[in-house]
Amino acid sequence: MTALIDLASHLAGDPSSPAVKTVVTEIAAACARISRVVAGGAILGNLGAAGITNVQDEEQKKLDILTNDLLSDALKACDPVAGIASEELEHVETTGRQGGYLVTFDPLDGSSNIDVNVSVGTIFSILPAPEGREPTEADFLQPGRHQVGAGYAVYGPQTMLVLTLTSGVVGFTLSADDRWLLTHAASTIPADTAEFAINMSNQRHWAPPIRRYVDGCLAGKEGPRAKNFNMRWVASMVADVHRILMRGGIFLYPWDAREPGKPGKLRLMYEANPMALIVERAGGKATDGVTPILDLAPSKLHQRVPVVLGSANEVDQVAREAAAG
Ligand code: AHG
Ligand code: MN
Ligand code: MN
Ligand code: MN
Repeated sequence: MTALIDLASHLAGDPSSPAVKTVVTEIAAACARISRVVAGGAILGNLGAAGITNVQDEEQKKLDILTNDLLSDALKACDPVAGIASEELEHVETTGRQGGYLVTFDPLDGSSNIDVNVSVGTIFSILPAPEGREPTEADFLQPGRHQVGAGYAVYGPQTMLVLTLTSGVVGFTLSADDRWLLTHAASTIPADTAEFAINMSNQRHWAPPIRRYVDGCLAGKEGPRAKNFNMRWVASMVADVHRILMRGGIFLYPWDAREPGKPGKLRLMYEANPMALIVERAGGKATDGVTPILDLAPSKLHQRVPVVLGSANEVDQVAREAAAG
């Protein structure tokens, strides 16, 4: 077996700027450290609730806070970074530096799974910072197409780092001696699938197009879709998206009537946008049900958005249901 190249060797061949490569290298190193903290779990006393509610009105886990601090500190000390935004921070934090890049992140995605030992992850997005001045919160509110890079780490049976910079999607696996080794050189998502991912417990709250789409999946070979679908729902977006990147599928977190004023549960700036860039670069599609996520103009830092992503032909089917009203 030929020796696997590491992250530094892969980046050497990437056309991105040295500053972007510095940011990616810093994020990768922080995710390696997060992997060890997550793996230590109860031994390190890191499981359980922190007893604090975050800006999302969620009860924070101890690891939400610990991973947020670890990644925030690493990025604020990283020279090309002018500012950061996190699921766990109400406002952006600037570094006093100008130019370079802004990083938004979800330090621990899938927190509800951490105490039951199910895969969780870290999601990140890299945006250009304004030149000649320090960034403000408004400078973060860029459409997803402005991202110069995005990725996630998934802490599962293997710890992997999935990354897209200028083109394509690559995957690294963390070695026993803490090196990110290139194990997935070009991940792509097949256009068709027979596997859907949605939290079925919300079925009675969905809008009609989503209900019709999922009913079509459940109707099997005898139904209008003429194929038997399988279902998965990990409740860690990172794990569900990674499965789709590896073998295809469609993931849906739509608007539902539980909180009609909320467009959905997932956050645009540090969940939907980075995942949409990865999915599109792998040949899939990512929409809010109709419009490509990457084309949406953000208005608030923690704004939520409905998400439909994965195998292109299935995402198109959802859009056809939406067009039917
Ligand atoms: P986070 O843990 O960062 O708050 O994100 C959790 C999200 C996402 O990872 C997952 O797809 C979704 O919440 C699961 O929601 P339900 O628990 O409602 O199924
Ligand atoms: Mn999340
Ligand atoms: Mn989170
Ligand atoms: Mn959360």
